[in-house]
Amino acid sequence: MNSSELHKFELLLPQNQIAKAISELGRRISEDYRDKEPILIGVLKGCVIFMADLAREISIPIEMEFISASSYINGHTPENKVDMYGGPDTPLAGRHILIVEGVVDSGHTVQTLIGKLGKMEPASIEIVTLLDKSKCRQVEIDIKYRGFDVGDDFVIGYGLDEDQKYRNLPFIGKVLNDK
Ligand code: IMP
Ligand code: MG
Repeated sequence: MNSSELHKFELLLPQNQIAKAISELGRRISEDYRDKEPILIGVLKGCVIFMADLAREISIPIEMEFISASSYINGHTPENKVDMYGGPDTPLAGRHILIVEGVVDSGHTVQTLIGKLGKMEPASIEIVTLLDKSKCRQVEIDIKYRGFDVGDDFVIGYGLDEDQKYRNLPFIGKVLNDK
């Protein structure tokens, strides 16, 4: 890391605090989904580090699937568009789904995913996110499992990127505006 990058962000959540939160989420999910064999569907790429840790804190049988999502603002309109590709190739009818996200911001990505997966007639769908930027929400979403509520700062690390970089930071950093 060069010196300008060192001044790019400040520590928001250290590794041990993240590990503790993930362990607690895993414990709750293991309890709530006992005998339900849920399918964790990770939203790439932001979910990767969180999902790998979370899965290992869950002590009941689960399946793991992934879907890719990218969101962008559609031209000059304020409407958010979300593209989805890939996705589970296992039947979802009657199954219990846990959508696993690194961060929920406006809520458009998760809302679009719930719409898409809901058509496959699962028994239930809940959201698990490491970070919730609830102040930034534009659509109403019910998040059952969240690690932290982090205000509206842009954050990096633990799977979350800025221009595809910093996903490998083992902690969550808050990006500073005066770089
Ligand atoms: P949404 O606004 O809830 O649809 O979130 C869209 C996507 O924006 C998330 O899945 C992340 O990939 C990305 N995103 C939102 N906030 C942040 C952030 O603070 N850091 C890194 N990525 C973010
Ligand atoms: Mg991104």
